[in-house]
Amino acid sequence: MRLTVIGTGYLGATHAACMAELGHEVLGVDVDPDKVAALQAGRVPFHEPGLPELIAKHTASGRLRFTTDYAAAGAFGEVHFVCVGTPQRKGSEGADLTYVDAAFAAIAEHAAEGALLVGKSTVPVGTAQRLAAAHEGVEVAWNPEFLREGFAVEDTLRPDRLVFGVRSSHAETILRQVYAPVLDAGTPLVTADFPTAELVKTAANAFLATKISFINAMAEVCEAAGGDVGVLAEAIGYDDRIGRKFLRAGIGFGGGCLPKDIRAFAHRAGELGVSLDFLREVDAINMRRRDKVVDVARELCGGSVLGARIAVLGAAFKPDSDDIRDSPALNVAARLRLDGADVTVYDPEALDNARKAFPLLGYAMSAEEALQGAELVLHLTEWPQFREIDPERAAQLVARPVIVDGRGALDAGSWTAAGWYFRALGRPAPAGERSPRGL
Ligand code: UDX
Repeated sequence: MRLTVIGTGYLGATHAACMAELGHEVLGVDVDPDKVAALQAGRVPFHEPGLPELIAKHTASGRLRFTTDYAAAGAFGEVHFVCVGTPQRKGSEGADLTYVDAAFAAIAEHAAEGALLVGKSTVPVGTAQRLAAAHEGVEVAWNPEFLREGFAVEDTLRPDRLVFGVRSSHAETILRQVYAPVLDAGTPLVTADFPTAELVKTAANAFLATKISFINAMAEVCEAAGGDVGVLAEAIGYDDRIGRKFLRAGIGFGGGCLPKDIRAFAHRAGELGVSLDFLREVDAINMRRRDKVVDVARELCGGSVLGARIAVLGAAFKPDSDDIRDSPALNVAARLRLDGADVTVYDPEALDNARKAFPLLGYAMSAEEALQGAELVLHLTEWPQFREIDPERAAQLVARPVIVDGRGALDAGSWTAAGWYFRALGRPAPAGERSPRGL
């Protein structure tokens, strides 16, 4: 089939490449000529494992092309996927639908009569219905995506489920054709009306965020009562009604989706007269975890971080990503800098993005360089390579072997055995005296 994908950011570039992989002819459309030129040359402007290979493969095969030309896209495509962003609106909790509205208007103007316009962006419930009413010459469907950064290709080619929000059997038939290889592989399909399809996405993200904040609230209780949230999470996770995934306590969630999506969901529910205030508490618990790391850093520096050399391991909002949007690690690093600490950050992929957004922080080209002379080490993004750091060797680099594991991912035993004062969120502080600042 001939498909267009409008918006070639994270979601769109992945969707376009994966649709080409499924055998379709795909035209990616974006208003940014630099992005289009890069992608057309087979270059991906962000870090996503497996995606550069897929884009290079299909731009070379000719099955995947990119353009800024909506008229060409309208003439080319039988089905148009809209994959533009829905950021948080300035000064509000609600979603900014400017890009979605503009993309639908632009492609509807050029699409063939009766063409199928498929929304994939995360939107407030009611958007699909509004867009369908505004663009009568075309058919609208909603097909939310659930991809995780770092697993975007895998999640698109082998999703847990497909959701089609459709108003006609014609739209469903076309979407079944588009995803035929995915459906043939046994992927469950849920067909739904527009509001339900839109809500599946926001409800899924709200549930995931709630799960993380739940375990982080338990971490707060453990800190107050002297318990260990890691052991607690393991024990409740064996109950398969609860499940072990998304129960890793730590510095909390960030990124371009969960934080803004729960705010937009609570906001939209409020407009509909439904209270989802518990999501505001989920948000507040999440933010408190960042405060906690700042507090612990202050405490471990003897009451003030002024002038303290602090190494921050991690800048991306999670590993396998160079995305720093709403990154807990950088938020903590910036606050410590503001309090007068001398902060040096290292991240395997996100340094360039971090440097642009936080020019006042110090940056190192390796973990070793960041550790050099540090009085305090904060482990804030759980890259696998940080688990490989040898605590003995690291102890020789720092000025004072004190580390806070903000992700519950390091092996406390081996760090402690190498002479480190090792502190993790939600776990009992080590017994004995912590080494005072300056020693
Ligand atoms: C998320 C959803 O998982 C995905 O389905 C949706 O389409 C978009 O939003 P993503 O933002 O890529 O995907 O990241 P995800 O892997 O879900 O992690 C989100 C955040 O939660 C990260 O900051 C991560 O570090 C944090 N997290 C995750 C925890 O703190 N604890 C956990 O147990 C799991």
